[in-house]
Amino acid sequence: MRKTALITGASKGIGKEMAFLFAEKDCNMVLVARSEDRLMRLKEQLEAKYAVSVYIIVKDLSLSGAAQELFNELKEKKIEVEYLVNNAGFGDYGVFSGTPWERYEKMIALNVTALTHLTHLFVQEWRDRKRGKILNVSSTAAFQPGPMMAVYFASKSFVLMLSEALEYELKRDNITVTTLCPGPTETNFGDESKMHASQLVKNVKIANPREVAELGYRAMMKGKSVVIHGAANKIAPFGIRLIPRKWVTRLSARVMQSK
Ligand SMILES: NC(=O)c1ccc[n+]([C@@H]2O[C@H](COP(=O)([O-])OP(=O)(O)OC[C@H]3O[C@@H](n4cnc5c(N)ncnc54)[C@H](OP(=O)(O)O)[C@@H]3O)[C@@H](O)[C@H]2O)c1
Repeated sequence: MRKTALITGASKGIGKEMAFLFAEKDCNMVLVARSEDRLMRLKEQLEAKYAVSVYIIVKDLSLSGAAQELFNELKEKKIEVEYLVNNAGFGDYGVFSGTPWERYEKMIALNVTALTHLTHLFVQEWRDRKRGKILNVSSTAAFQPGPMMAVYFASKSFVLMLSEALEYELKRDNITVTTLCPGPTETNFGDESKMHASQLVKNVKIANPREVAELGYRAMMKGKSVVIHGAANKIAPFGIRLIPRKWVTRLSARVMQSK
């Protein structure tokens, strides 16, 4: 029988590439995002090219109760999920004090609360059947504080810490938890987060979303713990272990400063 993957933030970028990867492996899908037109087009494209069935759910996952509603809809439709890809997320470039609270509230609700709630709902079901795979999309931002994107960096640290702890806890239930840490990637994220204003994007190689999705997909299937995309992106998480934390923040601030 065909398995089913649930992908949040599947309308664009890394999530959309992930949908193609699952389709290429004959996996049915539930695709979630806010843009109905984009999801509809993607569903048509995938079902025309591959022998898969795609169910779309148009939902703003930053709204209170959204994860539960999504889970309930799947129960109602008797769709059993094997793979959960928590990918939806966004950032915002700017000083903490100058950014409206509502922007941060939405960011934490999506990047942290929705991801945690969906994970909690699925593992409760999966621990009895002793099977399931989760891919949580974090970032290279997870490894250090990020002045100018303080809340986003902190939200991605949360994702990394949560996922590593759950990877350990859930082993006994045969559930794997993989964390994907992309560096800057050519998606809508740059415009949404206003990241183009920072030195960071000037100084690093911008990755292709397909390659990032492939790394995450393969790691999830192998049940790996944490994967970082790009050779250069792997240096910082290792290097910062060797220097005082104060320096880490200063270095990060220098990299994040505006152009
Ligand atoms: N691109 C990068 O440089 C980069 C680097 C490191 C980590 N990441 C992480 O990678 C993940 C995917 O981002 P991306 O780069 O592919 O960015 P993207 O192209 O902006 O895609 C984000 C996806 O999330 C969905 N989304 C946004 N807000 C949502 C909400 N409130 N409810 C439901 N869905 C929502 C978007 O769809 P709708 O707008 O249709 O809702 C879209 O499908 C994010 O978690 C991001 O933090 C990205």
